[in-house]
Amino acid sequence: MTTLFENGALGDITVKNRVFMAPLTRNRAHPDGTPHEMAIKYYTQRASAGLIVAEATQISPEGKGYINTPGIYNEKHVDAWRKVTDSVHATGGKIVLQLWHVGRISHTSHQPNGGQPLAPSDVRANADTFTESGVEMASTPRALLTDEIGQIVDQYAHAAKLAISAGFDGVEIHAANGYLLNQFISTNTNLRDDRYGGNVENRARFLLEVVDAVIAEIGLDKTGVRLSPAGTFNDIHDEQVAENYTYIYAELGKRRIAFLHVAEKFPGIAVSDPDLDLLAQLRNEFNGTYIANGDYGRDSATEVLETGAFAVAFGRPFIANPDLPERLEIGLPLADVNEDRLYGGDETGYSDYPRFEVNVRRVGGATQ
Ligand code: PHB
Repeated sequence: MTTLFENGALGDITVKNRVFMAPLTRNRAHPDGTPHEMAIKYYTQRASAGLIVAEATQISPEGKGYINTPGIYNEKHVDAWRKVTDSVHATGGKIVLQLWHVGRISHTSHQPNGGQPLAPSDVRANADTFTESGVEMASTPRALLTDEIGQIVDQYAHAAKLAISAGFDGVEIHAANGYLLNQFISTNTNLRDDRYGGNVENRARFLLEVVDAVIAEIGLDKTGVRLSPAGTFNDIHDEQVAENYTYIYAELGKRRIAFLHVAEKFPGIAVSDPDLDLLAQLRNEFNGTYIANGDYGRDSATEVLETGAFAVAFGRPFIANPDLPERLEIGLPLADVNEDRLYGGDETGYSDYPRFEVNVRRVGGATQ
């Protein structure tokens, strides 16, 4: 029976344990999308994770929806990320980058020339974004023209190539949590009648084109995908969840991607029992490496490995416990996250959470 503390491999990424770090938006990058120097220390402190999935990172200027999120579309971004990956690797860790386009979850103030955010259809989200002036409702988006979609596919492939040149061990294509690729999958956000809408295959087409383009660029062994079939965050209300995701899981399985990472629950949002049953059933459609995520603790994580999951990704627990794998292994108490310091700011609540301190006193000798 696999335990949380066994090594293994996903695609060509070898990992030393099954305690993964989930992607976490922390809003501490520079305004131009260059990751901050502080990120080197923050990620290196967490290098005992089997795998770090670094925070959602926009693939283009249009892919940005929040203040101070990082990017991966130019050489400046690559050079800064390179320092993060070098340091994580030097400490024995593995790290992949999450490729992000927010689609309609954006605000004109984040868009080039103050333009409208891009989306499958011009349906405004009942969701918040964070701007220079604070929390604002997402702006009304503009529906992408059919022949603009290929350019965004190319942006994903370009970002994947840059991520590898920045030293990442692979990428995770973010198709979850109500952002652009999820907006194409869901029936309430995709009202299109071209080849990217109207039925299951068409709604999944953009995602699968992105997956194929990224695989062509960096290889299937380095390509993972994140989905949230039961998710409602960012105003997602999908009337055809079972049909959409039965098809998508099977198509991803055929492509033999390195991993499928599923946000089964989102902080603060309840998931119904039928949805939990559906999530379990869907797993039968995907015959590859499955990473579970969402409100797991040590016992529930151990149980989900027993059902065949490869690993469990922990989000908030990894913020407050940089040494989370060691704490879980030894059974040490977990520190609580400082909710006021999640988004934006300095090292406080970011890279200043201590490792667990054990006072070792040698009997009859000097203390060490
Ligand atoms: C967020 O910034 O709140 C955020 C980003 C990416 C996610 C979920 C939430 O997948």
